[in-house]
Amino acid sequence: SYDEQFSNCMEGFNDWSAFMCGLNESIFIDTARSMVKNGLLAAGYNRINLDDCWSNMERAANGSMVWNTEKFPRGLPWLTQFLKSLGFIPGIYTDAGTKSCGGYPGAYGYEELDAKTFASWGFEYLKVDGCNMPTGTEAEYKQVYGHWHDVLSKLETPMVFSESAPAYFAEASNLTDWYSVMDWVPQFGQLARHSRDTLVFNSTLYWPDITGWDSVMFNYGQEVRLARYQKPGYVNDPDFLNVDHFDYTLDEKKSHFAIWSALSAPLIISAWIPGFTAEEFQYLTNKDIIAVNQDPLVLQSTLVSQDGTWDVLTKNLANGDRLLTVINRGSAQGSLSVTFERIGLSSVSAVSVKDLWTGTSTVSVKQITAANVPTHGTAILRISAIGSPFTITPTGMLFNTY
Ligand code: GLA
Repeated sequence: SYDEQFSNCMEGFNDWSAFMCGLNESIFIDTARSMVKNGLLAAGYNRINLDDCWSNMERAANGSMVWNTEKFPRGLPWLTQFLKSLGFIPGIYTDAGTKSCGGYPGAYGYEELDAKTFASWGFEYLKVDGCNMPTGTEAEYKQVYGHWHDVLSKLETPMVFSESAPAYFAEASNLTDWYSVMDWVPQFGQLARHSRDTLVFNSTLYWPDITGWDSVMFNYGQEVRLARYQKPGYVNDPDFLNVDHFDYTLDEKKSHFAIWSALSAPLIISAWIPGFTAEEFQYLTNKDIIAVNQDPLVLQSTLVSQDGTWDVLTKNLANGDRLLTVINRGSAQGSLSVTFERIGLSSVSAVSVKDLWTGTSTVSVKQITAANVPTHGTAILRISAIGSPFTITPTGMLFNTY
């Protein structure tokens, strides 16, 4: 069905973090070519999404949205054709309210017209942001996003629906509305932004208190509270991978990618891809980690323990394997041993453990050691049974309730 067919296939590029309102045609052309040349498309990063500020400040006389011809001289239908010719699926941005977050025309009251227009230009994915709603109540968001679902699902070519609604309720002192929004977003769309922006430039624009690695940890911390909402056909979106963030170490970037993969979160790179180093292309195309991201169960890893330095997460994988993810949030390299019991493995004394960064497998008895994890690094380990399959007993889940 429309609601299930997109499952966990959201990966690719969005211009926002790197370019904000400075987007233009050549950024998308150069990015697409670089993604092909450097193996990102082949690895599964097959979506290219425009974010805010692509339009004129006013609609046309007939009400239609109009692209900015200085930014897009050959026009958006030309651009979508170009992207499709290389093998990408193009996406675009609008806002559910009267204006976008950047002050461009919003789609409030124009939903049918805009959806048809975007479809006629060749777009197959729509991010609907949630700035500038007329009243901003939870009930209003529900009504408007529900309407978008109806509009997008009736299009001849269905559009992936990325909902930003939860992000607008994530920081209230009382999170009741946040969880109420989370109760309906999985019915309406395929992914939903639930937290802050992970920004590169102008990172002080919205949330000056948390940037860089801290903002990755912040959004991850929000996401782990929402594990129970994710399912095939709907994923929680903790925002972009900002590979060229000036502040990240390579280990932090690799963690960002590994954690998002362990969560089966969308891997939307928002950075200047043609400027990536060979190392960056290499880790972003790690097949074993992408396989975890794309695992058919689409489970989020859940947090089973957190002690101030180490976060330990685990989840089942479709072939019966178990994933163990260990994040070192501390300020020194270290090792952590996790007993089989803590991650729900029982009835076995030995398992095979594959380190997904190195590709090496070893046998572990009774406990699994994440060895020499660098500061702000992440160990991501795939656990397979040796001989007869293991059984999983439920683990305690932190942050899994209202
Ligand atoms: C919000 C969103 C960002 C981006 C900008 C555009 O901040 O969360 O991802 O779309 O708006 O203005």
